[in-house]
Amino acid sequence: MNLKEEIIKLKKELDVTLVAHFYQRDEVFELADITGDSLELAKKVMLTDSKYVVFCGVGFMGESVKVMSPEKTVLMPKIACCAMARMIDEGYFEQNLKKINQAGIPNENILPITYINSSAAVKAKVGQMGGMVCTSSNAYKIIEKGLKSGKKIFFVPDRCLGQNFAKSLNLKSAIVGDGSDLKEADIICYNGFCSVHQLFDVDDIAFYRAKYPGILIVTHPECKPEVCELSDFVGSTSQIIDYVKKLPLDQKVAIGTEYNMIKRLRKENTYVLSSSKPECPTMNETTLQDVYNTLLSIKEGRFDNEISVSEETRKWAYEALNRMFEI
Ligand code: 13P
Ligand code: SF4
Repeated sequence: MNLKEEIIKLKKELDVTLVAHFYQRDEVFELADITGDSLELAKKVMLTDSKYVVFCGVGFMGESVKVMSPEKTVLMPKIACCAMARMIDEGYFEQNLKKINQAGIPNENILPITYINSSAAVKAKVGQMGGMVCTSSNAYKIIEKGLKSGKKIFFVPDRCLGQNFAKSLNLKSAIVGDGSDLKEADIICYNGFCSVHQLFDVDDIAFYRAKYPGILIVTHPECKPEVCELSDFVGSTSQIIDYVKKLPLDQKVAIGTEYNMIKRLRKENTYVLSSSKPECPTMNETTLQDVYNTLLSIKEGRFDNEISVSEETRKWAYEALNRMFEI
């Protein structure tokens, strides 16, 4: 039996749901029972009744499953960390909050919202302050709801997502520590970013528009504001897939998101909006061999890379995630 067949056999035998984000390598993605963007994965996994969840993605995704479904045993073939999620921890969260306070905005006037790309510990901080989680597919709704509180939004950790949604809602944004006036802003952003989505530039858009007049430019909201502003469509990974699948096959499109997803999406008339190969290094870490090793560890009772979250953290992170699901 080859590795692929071994995995399929073990999966059945052990009552495992294999989950993969769109950015996973093809050979891993193909074997998954559940695939999707980060919101879809969080929702779909909550509805499964299998005992074990093997999550191929980045650390915060496995943690979110554990927070929402503590009864499940969640394992990750690679505990790969999203580089953006690593840009903030509880200490940096507090430090930034202090800077906002020093600008004359007390905590009572701040509602934190964290992008799902953050650790359970950061989500817990947000939950404790009455805040909530959002993903790239529901950020618009969540921020709109947050603004109804009459407070300023402290958006962590992705400054681009914060700036892009502020722009689309006709609101002012500012970044902590870059000298901008925080008091003037409706959305105050933490200074984090995704290094993969920073690769796309306005020059790339100009290049494709000049080379293929009529081409459509599609980007993820983690891209820079000036890039999103020049795009024909901006959306989460699932929203990009839906948008591109509905285009006529002869419509050229250049996409600014992760390489594995783009190359799987459509073969004809589809371009990567970069002269480089924008793979997410940590999403790419998970191999078929890792998946097999994890399944074997369940069979042998070792439970390698099992995800755990302390009860105190889980309780508050649950609040932040659950407020998102309620909306
Ligand atoms: P999605 O919510 O679109 O799946 O995005 C997750 C992510 O990490 C994009 O870089
Ligand atoms: Fe994190 Fe960027 Fe990778 Fe998405 S693409 S998982 S935001 S590092």
